[in-house]
Amino acid sequence: MRNFEFYNPVRICFGKGEIVQLSKLVPKGANILLTYGGGSIKKNGVYDQVMAALKGFKVIEFSGIEANPHYETLMKGVALVKAHKIDFLLAVGGGSVLDGTKFIAAAALWEGSDPWEILSRRSERHVERALPIGTVLTLPATGSEMNGNSVVTRWETHEKLAFDSEHVMPKFSILDPEVVFSLPQIQVANGIVDAFIHVMEQYLTFPVNAPIQDRFAESVLKTLIEEGPKVLADRTNYDAAANFMWAATMALNGLIGVGVPQDWATHMIGHELTAFHGIDHGQTLCIVLPGIMKLKRENKTEKILQYGERVWEITEGTVDQRIDATIQKTVEFFESVGIKTKLADYGVGSEIINKVVDRFVKRGIKAIGERGDLTTENIAKILELQLK
Ligand code: NZQ
Ligand code: ZN
Repeated sequence: MRNFEFYNPVRICFGKGEIVQLSKLVPKGANILLTYGGGSIKKNGVYDQVMAALKGFKVIEFSGIEANPHYETLMKGVALVKAHKIDFLLAVGGGSVLDGTKFIAAAALWEGSDPWEILSRRSERHVERALPIGTVLTLPATGSEMNGNSVVTRWETHEKLAFDSEHVMPKFSILDPEVVFSLPQIQVANGIVDAFIHVMEQYLTFPVNAPIQDRFAESVLKTLIEEGPKVLADRTNYDAAANFMWAATMALNGLIGVGVPQDWATHMIGHELTAFHGIDHGQTLCIVLPGIMKLKRENKTEKILQYGERVWEITEGTVDQRIDATIQKTVEFFESVGIKTKLADYGVGSEIINKVVDRFVKRGIKAIGERGDLTTENIAKILELQLK
């Protein structure tokens, strides 16, 4: 196992009715900016629960944070923070609202000339300060509720970029599984596969003798495989919703990734598919991951076999047959929850290949992946494998 440092200070309040805790969790006398998306929280009762818990607090609202939150929208939130001397941000929504709020929290205190640098120059310009954030999560998927990551899209230029900082880790996150009851089928499916692939990015690499991390990772995968379909079949199954929600948080709160190599190529390539074609985040991952498994089967062999055996019980056949069967099972799982895995399924053709490769070339990125050997030529091949 590799050396590591683990720090995760996010307080999690989990369970039915926990939104009432807001009255104790938000600092007394705080000037709150309540951020949310397109209005789902007004239809499912979450907004009313939040407002009831915040009785007596000064609350300014900022709604309209869209899926794949736009920089252009978020800068309006930054202006509100400054105009109203906001000192606490409360994000109520899915990963997009949480990520967008993290960006607002950092951009409001950014000392550089242009807050876009938080994303575009993330390797040189680190976030040193941010306003405090709390969250009420409404969509299990991203893990944003318990990590310091944020992904933002600049609409003007069709760029989707990420930053991470411990300063934007929420002070607390409230996870009430009942929010799942109102989720559309496609968002549940996206959440299942997003969480699943977060695990794969930290697990399907090469072994470094880290059995705790491996078994934690496998247990999250198995939980998603078992509980995800129950949520899809019956949205009001509270226990399944609770298990799905906690699995998604555990998939990306840092714990399973300590001391092990990490890949993230699926996400890096997937973000470009969203940036150019607006394909949902979870869907992009289901297109890219099978391509990576096919192309990188040789340097991921040991972990693919371990994953096949422990998660899908594939023990028979030659190494090649077991790898093929494991890829097949993975694709079948994505399709079984309703997510297609080929570019043609989303109306995207071979023209995407050069567009994505050019993006990596322009950013000066020569290779990605856990061994730093997934070149731009490999990226082209992966997309080609997934055309139809
Ligand atoms: O905007 P509203 O009206 O709230 O509707 C949302 C939105 O249309 C709806 N929704 C959310 N909760 C609901 C609900 N509808 C009914 N009932 C509820 N309880 O769902 C739609 C999608 O929401 P969104 O927040 O976009 O989805 P998700 O949580 O999947 O977030 C995706 C974003 O997170 C980023 C992605 O790139 C993408 O921008 N990611 C963030 C990560 C992180 N912070 O660590 C990691 C991920 O890999 C990912 O990149
Ligand atoms: Zn993701």
